[in-house]
Amino acid sequence: MSALFNPFTLKSITLRNRIAVPPMCQYSATDGLINDWHLSHYASLARGGAGLVIVEATAVSPEGRITPACTGIWNDDLAQAFVPVVQSIKAAGSVPGIQIAHAGRKASANRPWEGDDHIAEGDPRGWQTIAPSAIAYGPGLQKQPRAMTVEDIRRVRQDFVDAAVRARDVGFEWLELHFAHGYLAQSFFAAASNHRDDAYGGSAQNRGRFLLETLRAVREVWPEHLPLTVRFGVLEFDGRDEQTLVESIELTRQFKSAGMDMLSVSIGFSTPDAKIPWGSPFLGPIAQRVRREAGVPVSSAWGFGTPSIAEQVVRDAQLDVVMVGKAHLANPHWSYAAAKELGVERPSWVLPAPYAHWLERY
Ligand SMILES: Cc1cc2nc3c(=O)[nH]c(=O)nc-3n(C[C@H](O)[C@H](O)[C@H](O)COP(=O)(O)O)c2cc1C
Repeated sequence: MSALFNPFTLKSITLRNRIAVPPMCQYSATDGLINDWHLSHYASLARGGAGLVIVEATAVSPEGRITPACTGIWNDDLAQAFVPVVQSIKAAGSVPGIQIAHAGRKASANRPWEGDDHIAEGDPRGWQTIAPSAIAYGPGLQKQPRAMTVEDIRRVRQDFVDAAVRARDVGFEWLELHFAHGYLAQSFFAAASNHRDDAYGGSAQNRGRFLLETLRAVREVWPEHLPLTVRFGVLEFDGRDEQTLVESIELTRQFKSAGMDMLSVSIGFSTPDAKIPWGSPFLGPIAQRVRREAGVPVSSAWGFGTPSIAEQVVRDAQLDVVMVGKAHLANPHWSYAAAKELGVERPSWVLPAPYAHWLERY
């Protein structure tokens, strides 16, 4: 019996297997609005058999987009456009999730294939970024953000709440808060990007305050029976990793008390100088430690997109759910390929009948 193809239940939601498509920006929206590209993209990923499909980082406000082409959910029209996406994911037997996000000081950037750097000063496509402190990220993303006032903090927290309400109302069943990857929330937690001397800076407790307050506020509007998850960079690979990890695990315990159901363990990406050990599924043991010490279910990504590796990390209880990103771009039917490779009996059961029937038969 494959561990990867064992269903997973969180609150009232059961994933048909432990495979998830993590959020992956398509940089293909116009003024936040999704289009046919997104519909066909998400529908095909869901048809491929993954248990969970999480829609890309979707901005809670226009200024929270990474690029001008990022998706948004800051008004009802933008939210309504997701209805066919939600329906197509559900129709394929998968669970529709969405990641809501604010890009902070990394916002106002060009698309990855158009430079991945900040839009030049004076270019009307760009905008003023905000962050906990007026500290730029570094090479490529050198624009200096405006330090947020406490009123800004309150407003962005409310933007997350409003986005969660819209996501709920259009039928998403799994909500992920983007607290990772050097975007706004992560930059509050990372000491290097947060030099505030008020209640939102200084100690780990203070640096975690914006994250925790936002999570608590979202939990109040996100249905209790549906999973609320956080994607969080638990370390930076900046040479201070044990200390950061200990602080992250403590914050994760507080997330759990505040109503978080699962942590997606990721990387901080708060500094351009990080020494990340690419090339192996290096986050498995780290996620397992978070799982054990914080007592929460975990998922993770970065290098798990080989069926034998994905199977092993679930079997070894490192991860509850495996995020498979780029391998899904290469093959939306990755789950089917994995089922075949792992010797799952009748691997085509992960596919809808119009595909499965023929693959069963011949
Ligand atoms: C095209 C692309 C877009 C991405 N966009 C997001 C995003 O919107 N939110 C996020 O948390 N991570 C994002 N990521 C990171 C992925 O979720 C995932 O962590 C990463 O691809 C590593 O997993 P993999 O090795 O299976 O590809 C993106 C990655 C790619 C390749």
